[in-house]
Amino acid sequence: MNNSVIITNAVMSTPLGRSARKGADMASLHTVEKAAIVVTDGVIDYAGPQSDMPAVTDESRYSHIDAGGCAVLPGFVDSHTHLIFGGYRPDEFEWRLKGDSYMSIMERGGGIQSTVNATRTESAEALARKAQWFIDRMAAMGVTTVEAKSGYGLDTATELKMLDAIDRLASDPNQKLRIVATFLGAHAVPKEYKGRTAEYVDLMISEMLPAVKGKARFCDIFTEKNVFEIEDSRRFLKAAREAGFKLKLHADEIVTLGGAELAAELGAVSADHLLHVSDQGVEDMAAAGVVATLLPLTAFTLKEPYAPARKFIDSGAAVALATDLNPGSCFSGSIPLTIALACIYMNMTIEETITALTINGAAAVDLAERTGSLEQGKDADIIILNTDNYRMLPYYVGMNCVRTVISRGRVVAKND
Ligand code: NIG
Ligand code: FE
Repeated sequence: MNNSVIITNAVMSTPLGRSARKGADMASLHTVEKAAIVVTDGVIDYAGPQSDMPAVTDESRYSHIDAGGCAVLPGFVDSHTHLIFGGYRPDEFEWRLKGDSYMSIMERGGGIQSTVNATRTESAEALARKAQWFIDRMAAMGVTTVEAKSGYGLDTATELKMLDAIDRLASDPNQKLRIVATFLGAHAVPKEYKGRTAEYVDLMISEMLPAVKGKARFCDIFTEKNVFEIEDSRRFLKAAREAGFKLKLHADEIVTLGGAELAAELGAVSADHLLHVSDQGVEDMAAAGVVATLLPLTAFTLKEPYAPARKFIDSGAAVALATDLNPGSCFSGSIPLTIALACIYMNMTIEETITALTINGAAAVDLAERTGSLEQGKDADIIILNTDNYRMLPYYVGMNCVRTVISRGRVVAKND
């Protein structure tokens, strides 16, 4: 398929750089009013004023897109999802509507364990087919990179099966998005190990980490009271780091436990959720350069307070935004609603929100060298809105105003 394209007549806005934008830098977008982008074999050759666009050799290779004066941005990076899962949990959603809490359902053997039971019975092929349905919808909302976690197996074979499903999706030559795999064997203590958390950590370290090496770039853990507390988390993450994985944490989601501080201590790439982060945790993460990945759809769904985005940004940290799509705490992959909630409830500016979903999301999956901004040498992950003004993004509350999505130079979604 053709992945050489020339886009003209664009109002281009993009963060700049090859690493996370921190603090006040998150607000600065580089805008060119009448811009052109030249993409050769999926890579950006030129992004700048149309008047300075270089001539290309062999113009017939290129398809041409007239953006019609519409806003053009980098593709979005959804850097935290649980995209692969068996079954659904609408019953738990209803119990929560009646006052049950997420953790009490989990402690009764439901929650994550319920999805584990369903995932263990599915084939890798079936899991991948189901996930593709979500991927197609994400692509239509402008997502060009998605992170996908394992973590509904909690035994070596099923964790490997989930990573196999992710690999099938990622290596499909027609795949719309770039997919980054994370090993989340430490998502919960499985029922077989109830009351024996340290033994399950031993199993992950001795058996699972060697088995998943090379199949996932990141290791993640649900650091939470009554799940993996700080000491177990530290022991597991240190072993994962030694085995060559980059680190992520589900940190301070339900209670203030010190997950953010631990992420900073261990040099994690990101700590995620952070609804109940301490002030010390914010400071430590800012000082250590750990990306704060905030997931407003989860706070919304669980009726929890939103994460303190302003505190992070005002302390000089890099904030990323992601959906957390999963069958339990947040059954939504809605980028439009993520944008609206970030602006309305987390007091992020529109520019900060765009930075959080592009270059900072890319940094959260260690891909800021390749994607997240519209600059020469980066992959051509580009979206065209249906409006000339990117400030319309949060105004479209929960509605999609992305018109065309280009992933690594290929048009993968058109919402005409
Ligand atoms: O990010 N809290 C831990 N993990 C997920 C939820 C997973 C589930 O409920 O299935 C989260 O919220
Ligand atoms: Fe999550």
